[in-house]
Amino acid sequence: MPRFRRALLVTSSIKFRLAALFCVVTLVLAALAALALYHHQRGIMINRLRTRATALAANLAVNAAPALIAGDQMQLSVLVATAMQNPGVLSAAIVDHQGVVRMHSNIREIGRRLERAAAPATDPAAQAHLRPTEPIIFNGKGVGTVVLDIDASDLAAGLWKLRIGLLLGFLMVTTGVCLLFVRLIDRFLRPLDTLVQAAGRVGRGELSVRVPEVGGREIRNLARSFNRMTAGLSAAKARIEQGYLEAVMTLAATVEVKDPYTRGHCDRVAYYSEQVARQMGLDDAFCSELRLAGALHDLGKVGVAHEILCKPGPLDPDEFAEMARHPMIAWKILEPAKFLASVREIILVHHERYDGSGYPNRLKGDQISLAGRILSLADAYDSMTSDRPYRRRLGHQQALAIIKEGKGRQFDPEVTEAFLATAAAMGEPPTATSRSREAC
Ligand SMILES: [Fe+2]
Repeated sequence: MPRFRRALLVTSSIKFRLAALFCVVTLVLAALAALALYHHQRGIMINRLRTRATALAANLAVNAAPALIAGDQMQLSVLVATAMQNPGVLSAAIVDHQGVVRMHSNIREIGRRLERAAAPATDPAAQAHLRPTEPIIFNGKGVGTVVLDIDASDLAAGLWKLRIGLLLGFLMVTTGVCLLFVRLIDRFLRPLDTLVQAAGRVGRGELSVRVPEVGGREIRNLARSFNRMTAGLSAAKARIEQGYLEAVMTLAATVEVKDPYTRGHCDRVAYYSEQVARQMGLDDAFCSELRLAGALHDLGKVGVAHEILCKPGPLDPDEFAEMARHPMIAWKILEPAKFLASVREIILVHHERYDGSGYPNRLKGDQISLAGRILSLADAYDSMTSDRPYRRRLGHQQALAIIKEGKGRQFDPEVTEAFLATAAAMGEPPTATSRSREAC
């Protein structure tokens, strides 16, 4: 199947679509959760920095108020120096109410105006610093302002760590959840897959297929209905096959009506074939198939003229050619019955000979199926020990002697040995009529 078509089939499956839907929903929810968490943590970190910076500025403002009023530069210098000792403080300034810097950690700034003293940093993470201001109040009156510059680079670094941590967490959580969803969906829909595959097998003629009745209620009901349906189809098929088989058996029986000399022949051939197969240790299925082939092996004689079948003497070449058509006629009659395909194969070769001198296809040795080789020998034995329009039947021992002579030429050596062993175990068979009843 082309790769594109295979990909199209995968993406059009319910399993893929459900998994994709769940994964997209998971991705969106996880992304929203990660963003919310990031903003929450970011706010906490900024507030923590602001609180610390504001506390520093407020402390400096409280201490600086008397010195600013008194114009005590020395004290203001000490206070600024003390403030600068706190970690992260980049600069500290004390500005009077006119906006003039009265003391600064950078002495070159002293005496200048600080225009933006009141403009606090709005985004310390983006600007990498924070500028808290605090009014200096003395006796309830504002006399100046404290302005600090606080290093916020640690805040930016902390936020980068937070982003990377959240991204990794997001990837891990979404991957884990998506894999879990895929597994759950696969497990949930597996019975449906089994049903689809089983339906395909039924479509190919495997009516014996059944599916386990597991899964959710609807799928269990579907599986139960499927099993009932296949059981019904199997039963209907068995009835049709049985009916067909009975029709074919009836047709085969007409041969014995046309040719009374062969009455009971098919049943006896079926019986001998099965006995030989069992002697060779072949299984029940093989024996059953062979027995059926034996019962039907001369079915094709319905297409042979009655005068030829009952001719009281040897056949001329044309008559023999007509008679030799009967395996092929049976082959054609049984062609529509697929369930008899292997039986049909056995019947076709039942007049082939081990040395290749048989008909219709002059097969030899292993080219003839084992079942065909067994049927051929059983057919020959029963023909020899039955009366025919052109000769009297041979005795049991006479027939066995001919079979021994034909070992390796007309007959398969291994099958011959098995037949002789079977014949020795059975002894001389009873009369033709009683034998046919036993075989039934
Ligand atoms: Fe035959």
